[in-house]
Amino acid sequence: MSELTFAMIKPDVVRAKNTGKVIDLIEQNGFNILRMQKGQLSAEMAEEFYGVHKERPFFGELVEFVTSGPVVVMALEKANAVKEWRDLMGATDPIQAAPGTIRKLFGTNIGSNAAHGSDSAETANIELSLFFGPPPSEVEEAK
Ligand code: RTP
Ligand code: MG
Repeated sequence: MSELTFAMIKPDVVRAKNTGKVIDLIEQNGFNILRMQKGQLSAEMAEEFYGVHKERPFFGELVEFVTSGPVVVMALEKANAVKEWRDLMGATDPIQAAPGTIRKLFGTNIGSNAAHGSDSAETANIELSLFFGPPPSEVEEAK
């Protein structure tokens, strides 16, 4: 059964003009891009998005980095999309990431690591709603 996940191409990739290469990998790996938008995150949006990390020592740097330039956010569809997208991104630290993964190919270090992916289906729903609003079925039901 197909699943949805939330993906973000981080500012390092956009700055380096590698957005298209990442989108190509996404499509070649069988994901359907259901939604896609480029934009600049406000500090408030970034703090809400990364709220689970607010007590972590790297929180300030994380918010600063993700708001340092435009990002591309996407709703991706595929069977097991959450795991499949995390597998394609590779390990959080690009040095540890497997060959051929997005973080190995385009990441620099654990802070500038090219991409984000939801860590569960539940988180995906929250993150997708934050960026794209409620899913169409819920909009229909709300009418
Ligand atoms: P993400 O949420 O961005 O997809 O990454 P992730 O699940 O692989 O990693 P997570 O633990 O959720 O951490 C979120 C982001 O915080 C930055 N980070 N910096 N300096 C550090 O030790 C450190 N640890 C994590 C990374 O940019 C990571 O993507
Ligand atoms: Mg995470």
